[in-house]
Amino acid sequence: MLKNDQLDQWDRENFFHPSTHLSQHARGEILNRVIKTASGVFIEDRDGNRLLDAFAGLYCVNAGYGRQEIAEAIAEQARELAYYHSYVGHGTEASITLAKMILDRAPANMSKVYFGLGGSDANETNVKLIWYYNNILGRPEKKKIISRWRGYHGSGLVTGSLTGLELFHKKFDLPVEQVLHTEAPYYFRRANLDQSEEQFVAHCAAELEALIEREGADTIAAFIGEPVLGTGGIVPPPAGYWAAIQAVLKKHDILLVADEVVTGFGRLGSMFGSDHYGIEADIITIAKGLTSAYAPLSGSIVSDKVWKVLEQGTDENGPIGHGWTYSAHPIGAAAGVANLKLIDKLNLVSNAGEVGAYLNVTMAEALMGHAHVGEVRGEGMLCAVEFVKDKDSRTFFDAAEKIGPQISAKLLEQDKVIARAMPQGDILGFAPPFCLSRAEADQVVEATLRAVKTVLG
Ligand SMILES: Cc1ncc(COP(=O)(O)O)c(C=O)c1O
Repeated sequence: MLKNDQLDQWDRENFFHPSTHLSQHARGEILNRVIKTASGVFIEDRDGNRLLDAFAGLYCVNAGYGRQEIAEAIAEQARELAYYHSYVGHGTEASITLAKMILDRAPANMSKVYFGLGGSDANETNVKLIWYYNNILGRPEKKKIISRWRGYHGSGLVTGSLTGLELFHKKFDLPVEQVLHTEAPYYFRRANLDQSEEQFVAHCAAELEALIEREGADTIAAFIGEPVLGTGGIVPPPAGYWAAIQAVLKKHDILLVADEVVTGFGRLGSMFGSDHYGIEADIITIAKGLTSAYAPLSGSIVSDKVWKVLEQGTDENGPIGHGWTYSAHPIGAAAGVANLKLIDKLNLVSNAGEVGAYLNVTMAEALMGHAHVGEVRGEGMLCAVEFVKDKDSRTFFDAAEKIGPQISAKLLEQDKVIARAMPQGDILGFAPPFCLSRAEADQVVEATLRAVKTVLG
């Protein structure tokens, strides 16, 4: 039901919302939901509706809502020192401590953390560092970045280009020419239905290698990928995918960026997706779970190999010409320190692994029998249900039918559970806070089954 009060009017008159159908919003066809408070896995709007947030905001409130330890750390930091910059060797106790805590948790070959504000700017940083790296090594032609179709790496000019989703390119003149895309490791949507998983992995690696050879390996600087495809559909890679891809990259001297904005700090039940899948990245992108979104903060963790060249670059060229006013903002850093301590104290990474596995198993048991559920998949505290028009022939619904959005709307309306209709395909995504209990997981599964039956019979 639409509300026609002052806040609602101000919102429509003044607020340019991201990722929103602007004219529908202006006409009042999209409900303004004003969120007021939250605790654990529940958020509450100003009308008193209590909703189970099974997507943790935008898969970021990993520690759960209402954590007073993090709020206190932010307040204390703001009182003591709300801001100082981190240029020319400056820092704060919080930012230095957080860098140490991140490196203590990161894969062994990692060396330093560069702090930003969000996942997009962190990936922009990564691309700049990679270009700088190859210039210092005397390889000015080695600049192109390969991403995957359905990858998500942000909304900036280069990062929006890296993102392999149509909506993020259309009418924005993207992708820019330095960015190329290759096959997504999406077995369920493979073009050749006769392929085994193993054959499909070999096909993905061969496609990558063919692209590299077409363009010339001396023009390709890096490959970027999420350990598990996120916004592109929540798709864990088929077995052996990362080993096969890394072999191709090594052969052609191409850097690997693991975008762990979603998977970093425990979402897969391991501290990093890189550990989970044996990915040896040269740079790791972090954001979201670093602070559980209590304050904006991101980072680029660079390996020893990259760091050495960056150091050499500044010896030759002077200070690195890259910095944000808010790099390593003390309030974000204080939130990060408190968040990582809390995640350890409450054993939330192992809870994400255990309850996440339970959520995935119970979701599959409840839904796989349905005629229009093609696949239930996930890893750790990530789960997706993909809908099909016909199971045997694996035919998809027409996008205009908006099956995914209809089901997520019903889920909210009937049982007050938030899941995300993923932007490309009829896919319902779940990424709850790590503190989800088994009883709450049951609630999510039962509500999902009910919503599916309401929309699809
Ligand atoms: C894997 C990944 N990388 C980068 C980003 C961009 O992060 P941000 O929205 O903070 O700019 C996202 C956001 O969802 C993401 O999922």
